[in-house]
Amino acid sequence: MTRFTLNGKPVETALPDDTPLLWVLRDGLDQTGTKFGCGMGLCGACTVHLDGQPIRSCSTPLSAAAGKKITTIEGVGKARVGAAVQKAWQKLDVVQCGYCQSGQIMSATALLTANPKPTDADIDAAMGGNICRCATYVRIRAAIHEAAKSLA
Ligand code: FES
Ligand code: FES
Repeated sequence: MTRFTLNGKPVETALPDDTPLLWVLRDGLDQTGTKFGCGMGLCGACTVHLDGQPIRSCSTPLSAAAGKKITTIEGVGKARVGAAVQKAWQKLDVVQCGYCQSGQIMSATALLTANPKPTDADIDAAMGGNICRCATYVRIRAAIHEAAKSLA
């Protein structure tokens, strides 16, 4: 049995240790806000936080989450920075199809938590691993600046 904290609540699962965390979240714990894109750590759609750090849950084994804090899109808005990011996303109407956006918001929240005033270059460096096939990159960058302003 593996135990960890998910969005502030203790959870446990009997799934094998090498099960990708993404499947544990989606199929084992019914948290379907985190999306499957490439399954190879290349697109960022599956991004969640492990003890506050953004990770690709498709290529992270369940064993890495044992005893740790996992935050997903279902819980990120409970904290100040995540709430500000979500608000900015709505204000600037960032989302197009939406498929990549859970991962985008998780990466943006991690960036602003570490760096409250990111430059365009900081944003590009932090968000470069999150692919959007609808090409919402300009709005994503603007929304991160908007969230930073609202948090200042
Ligand atoms: S689904 Fe995990 S990085 Fe693409
Ligand atoms: S909004 Fe469609 S893939 Fe990003």
